[in-house]
Amino acid sequence: MAAAFTVRGLVKRYGPLTALGGVDLDVEEGELVGLLGPNGAGKSTLVKIGCGLVRASAGEAYVCGARAGSAEARAAMGYLAELFRFPGWTTADELLELHQRLAGSAGGAEERAELLELVGLEDARRRRVEAMSKGMQQRLGIAQALVGTPRFLFLDEPTSALDPGGRRTVRGLLEELRRRGVAVLLNSHLLSEVELVCDRVAILSRGSIVAEGRPSELARPHGVEVDVGGGTRLFAGAGREEAPRIVAGLVASGEQVYGVRVLETTLEEIYLEAVGDDTA
Ligand SMILES: Nc1ncnc2c1ncn2[C@@H]1O[C@H](COP(=O)(O)OP(=O)(O)OP(=O)(O)O)[C@@H](O)[C@H]1O
Ligand SMILES: [Mg+2]
Repeated sequence: MAAAFTVRGLVKRYGPLTALGGVDLDVEEGELVGLLGPNGAGKSTLVKIGCGLVRASAGEAYVCGARAGSAEARAAMGYLAELFRFPGWTTADELLELHQRLAGSAGGAEERAELLELVGLEDARRRRVEAMSKGMQQRLGIAQALVGTPRFLFLDEPTSALDPGGRRTVRGLLEELRRRGVAVLLNSHLLSEVELVCDRVAILSRGSIVAEGRPSELARPHGVEVDVGGGTRLFAGAGREEAPRIVAGLVASGEQVYGVRVLETTLEEIYLEAVGDDTA
């Protein structure tokens, strides 16, 4: 089966500015990929090309095997834009109904009720957008992206307006989507969140991918820290596999061991190293 999203050699120029300088990226079926990068790195440009809203200067983009922007590609995907604004006078239910018409979904009232329940808005069905908090609007945005049961979702910063509780709700929602086999490309600045939920991350800087992999693959050992009777000893640079030998050595030399921690680089450290001075 074709990957959920594929780009090859993708270039986007806006006049003299190169927003994307030849990007290759794959999101496999059912995979959740986090796209990170500083402001202006090109994340939203990549997503908009994937949706067919922006035309690439060179290279190719495919959604579920169909050329990005084609009717077939659009039918297979859902999209939550970065700075979306729904009309204030529509209710949650009306908004989803409008998007069902736009997407050609025959899901009817049943689909709308299911989506509102999925995002925790079942009691806000008749509430107008203008009477919703930002967090509720953002969750409604996610429900909108799921109209028509897409196989692949572009979510451009879906948790930027959410409080910690709301972010956790969305994280749970992403895990539910994974269980359903929906693939997701998630743009985000919230590194800890991406680390918690994504199968893989790609870091974009000045229009190029500068790091890519599973969060656990990108993490490097920092050292092993052992609490002994006299305090804490740091074995700098040691990895997890060295921990048993270190502890055995300490015990053999008569130390009492109270705790052992394997220290790894955080995604934040990896990110800052990868983007270098590309920070606004
Ligand atoms: N329509 C446009 N015309 C000209 N330049 C544009 C246009 N859209 C984006 N750009 C430029 O392309 C670059 C990439 O922008 P993009 O919105 O993709 O970044 P981003 O990674 O999504 O940033 P952010 O984290 O702030 O959302 C920026 O330098 C931006 O100013
Ligand atoms: Mg953006």
